[in-house]
Amino acid sequence: MRENSIRGGGLTRREFVAAASVTLASGALFARESTSPLAHDRHRPRFHLMPPSAWLNDPNGPLYWKGLYHLFYQYSPVISNFGTKYWGHAVSKDLVHWRNLGIALAPTPGGPDKNGCWSGSAVVANGVPTIVYTGATWSAENEFTERAKGIIPERQIVAVAADPSDPYLRKWVKVPENPVLAAPPEGIKAVGWRDPSLWKEGDTWYMAIGSGEVGRGGMALLYSSTDLRRWAYLHPLAVAKPDPSAQDAKRPWNAMWECPEFFFLQGKPVLLIARGNRYLTGTYGDHRFNQIGEGQIDYGAAAYAQKTVEDEKGRRIWWAWIREKRSEQSQKAAGWAGVMSLPRLLTLHADGSLRIEPVTELKILRREPMEIRDMKVPPDGQLLLNNLESDCAEIEVEIDLGSARQAGVRVRSTSDGSEQTLIGYDRDSRELFSDTIASSKDPATEGRPPFLLGRGVQKGDLRLEESEALKLRIYLDASALETFANGRASLSDRVYPVSPASLGIGLFVRGGTARVRSMTVWQLSPISDNRLTSGSKLFDTRG
Ligand code: FRU
Repeated sequence: MRENSIRGGGLTRREFVAAASVTLASGALFARESTSPLAHDRHRPRFHLMPPSAWLNDPNGPLYWKGLYHLFYQYSPVISNFGTKYWGHAVSKDLVHWRNLGIALAPTPGGPDKNGCWSGSAVVANGVPTIVYTGATWSAENEFTERAKGIIPERQIVAVAADPSDPYLRKWVKVPENPVLAAPPEGIKAVGWRDPSLWKEGDTWYMAIGSGEVGRGGMALLYSSTDLRRWAYLHPLAVAKPDPSAQDAKRPWNAMWECPEFFFLQGKPVLLIARGNRYLTGTYGDHRFNQIGEGQIDYGAAAYAQKTVEDEKGRRIWWAWIREKRSEQSQKAAGWAGVMSLPRLLTLHADGSLRIEPVTELKILRREPMEIRDMKVPPDGQLLLNNLESDCAEIEVEIDLGSARQAGVRVRSTSDGSEQTLIGYDRDSRELFSDTIASSKDPATEGRPPFLLGRGVQKGDLRLEESEALKLRIYLDASALETFANGRASLSDRVYPVSPASLGIGLFVRGGTARVRSMTVWQLSPISDNRLTSGSKLFDTRG
């Protein structure tokens, strides 16, 4: 493996932002209807959900209601993780084609969410779709000044659908009881307190809120309620295993669990944590979660803030924010940042680990399949498939590793390979990897220590058995790349090739000869004709 490799995930929002040396943006960016240059931006994906322009981060409050999937997301009119956050709202009939409906929740001037409507969940209570989210509120000049004083600038807020008979749920009203929770429990020196996750047991609602203490680490605080308005604090649902980085008083965010997501999968409790895209498995009794196993859902540092919903078919659907991996300056110049991952299906395997696959609905985008069967792939050498170019495609490949040490797929490649991205398996480390070191010549994509942003190698365990074939499914969507391996690993990444000719698709093998059992490449249909740039007026926050 090459140098400057990093293991995926592992960063909180604040670490990521600090390392990316973000400066606050000023001035809003609004794309003009249909004539937006974003519609012609080759780095902007075509079948991933995004707002028409500007900034997206966490998925929020996924909900299935009256035949439509609703997905909300953290939206900011400025390209900055510190921009004021709104809830952007999109709907889909099939989990694949999304239509942006604009802003569902906006900060109330002078209200407990005056500095932002942060992440949260949506549930249906007594027939009324209800959102519970975190309001950002600080009276000092900024969040960090307030936190430095030990004040927690977060409140928990409830909003209900103004008209539950509207399948589009276009209007939301905040309830008079807000904030429904105004401070973390006494006795907890919380470094943060946000991102409620809800579930129901009998007639009682339970809510886990992300928190943590320096010296103790991340935790999810458990509350209960019968009406979603009056909440009683119970105890921590779960506390992180000892982690030395959580002791560091200079980096208090390490001690925080952002976006805890608790649910039952095939009857077993699962807790997701934003940092490192981790999942924890274990037991649940007395309303306490006891961790036994753990794993990582996505090995890419680009993926963050996982969120799920159980749909009408009883499936557990997963999304995450796929962040940018180029400089903030180039994000601002582009006028947009942040992509929603494709919806993925989570299942629990008999061995206790989670399986992760793209939802089958995505197959409706496939067209023009090109197939290869039984092809020997010699080591080294540049191998691109003839008559096949795409940056909007799905690749399904099964490779017998043979004598190779590494094998996989080459994408977004020029014919001479001067720009290219490799996605494959390393037999010695038994890891899936994505190597974007040569993915772009743009200096804005340079990897800099600690390699949170920019080009590098992302990797994580795949542990194929000796005779097991490598099975990859790769979604290429302009700058967004999502890889699934053998039904049990995923890796999201970003690439920004400079050359418009970086569209080649092929194979690579190192250290021996491998054999492709089968490979199919489909061109995928875009989900809109303008890279999802219409509806920008619905996102106007100036009013
Ligand atoms: C995670 C996060 C959440 C917070 C939201 C604000 O990325 O920091 O903890 O609610 O983003 O946009």
